[in-house]
Amino acid sequence: MDTRRGRWPVVLGYRSVRISNFMVFHISHLAIVDSTNTYLKSLVDAPEGTCVSADEQTAGRGRQNRNWHSAPGEGLYLSILLRPPRGRTDLPLLSLTAAIAVAETFLAIGLEKIDLKWPNDLLCSERKICGILVETAGLNQGGSPRVIVGIGVNLNQRAFPPPLDTTATSLLIESGAAMGAATFRDLLLERFSEWYDCWREEGREQILTRWTALSSYATGREVSVKLESESLTGITEGLNRDGALLVRTVDGDLRTIIAGEVSRLRPVNCAPKKEA
Ligand code: BTN
Repeated sequence: MDTRRGRWPVVLGYRSVRISNFMVFHISHLAIVDSTNTYLKSLVDAPEGTCVSADEQTAGRGRQNRNWHSAPGEGLYLSILLRPPRGRTDLPLLSLTAAIAVAETFLAIGLEKIDLKWPNDLLCSERKICGILVETAGLNQGGSPRVIVGIGVNLNQRAFPPPLDTTATSLLIESGAAMGAATFRDLLLERFSEWYDCWREEGREQILTRWTALSSYATGREVSVKLESESLTGITEGLNRDGALLVRTVDGDLRTIIAGEVSRLRPVNCAPKKEA
């Protein structure tokens, strides 16, 4: 673990916040860490609601072993620990839940052009403004499993280094307004708590409906999908009850995508619907 000052990271701030009857967040803010996800995963006895954010990550991780650009003070680098009850089979819906919470945070601060790309990328002007990495631990051990929801939000970058300069954007670039990472984090945790409560109460339909309303990718979108051993193209036909993406291929087959990299084949002509 890279903490620059030895074995444990320097904690700049700590507080506990009760957001709802269910959810108390225990938030530690670090100066620098390799990855907030890696660090939170190492805290094996931490309670549900433990959150770690950092000014900077030296080895921020994205999906498919990519790096996450984590320059100091430019973004929110946040990980949240959940301990859902053992036996729930709908853990994949948690990544859609997190994406909804971030999208609603952007909408609440006035950034209207937010779009969701399956499963949990947030785009603005068709560029990536937030990525989410959900990891699990302890699924095959006794006790409740641990789910680590890692969220990276581009807030105050004025520009990105190549190759991100053609694919990424930030709140500042899109709106002209900067925002402190702690302010965005606290607004986001309120939304997250609401949607996590919804998930805990088995609100599958609400989650699927809300995600679909926030995404221009959910239906009628011509996409290519890179799977582990093949690629396919087709038109999206919504989500199934597990949150997998349904894609109708040119052969007329309806494919169920549970993991893969989705990209658009044509530009978006219409903004996504915002109200569920
Ligand atoms: C992706 O889009 O590939 C997911 C990116 C997730 C980045 C966040 S930043 C906070 C947390 N810590 C990490 O190392 N990764 C996630």
